[in-house]
Amino acid sequence: MRDFIPYTVIILPLHCKVVRDQRARGLVVVPYGIDIGPGLVELAVQRHAEHADNFVVADAWAWNPQRQWDFVYSMLDLSPPDMYCVWIDRLLGLVAPGGRLILGAYGSTSRGIAPEQPGQVLRSCGLEVAGTASSANANSEFAWTDVGVGR
Ligand SMILES: C[S@@+](CC[C@H](N)C(=O)[O-])C[C@H]1O[C@@H](n2cnc3c(N)ncnc32)[C@H](O)[C@@H]1O
Repeated sequence: MRDFIPYTVIILPLHCKVVRDQRARGLVVVPYGIDIGPGLVELAVQRHAEHADNFVVADAWAWNPQRQWDFVYSMLDLSPPDMYCVWIDRLLGLVAPGGRLILGAYGSTSRGIAPEQPGQVLRSCGLEVAGTASSANANSEFAWTDVGVGR
């Protein structure tokens, strides 16, 4: 994921490794994140104490922050398949004009389940795919779409 998040990022849910990678590349990253589980949020607060206020326990389906971010990452796995486009529309509402929504999807290696294809889902919702990536090790797929300045 580090290759397709150039700078400021919201990570939704939390993905602390990305922050460390981007800092190593000399890029400015201000981490934000939400998760429905308090344990992961507490871990993020410990790792990023200087940004502790940016991490909240919340249900992403009910969370209504009063701002937008340049980069938003979340997963299709947080939505039932018949709600993917609604979920994506909700996430796009968190992306600032000129920003990017990155979608991930995870399979299950132990159960032999392949991940959903976020690029296909984005297209099925009428959105352009700006790029895709996959991780065979993590059995995961990623795709992203860019939000126009005039959106
Ligand atoms: C597979 S883990 C992903 C962990 C890490 N963020 C990553 O991308 O590798 C899925 C996470 O989504 C969180 N989650 C599931 N439903 C959620 C919801 N409705 N709102 C916020 N977080 C949720 C879970 O608590 C869990 O930490």
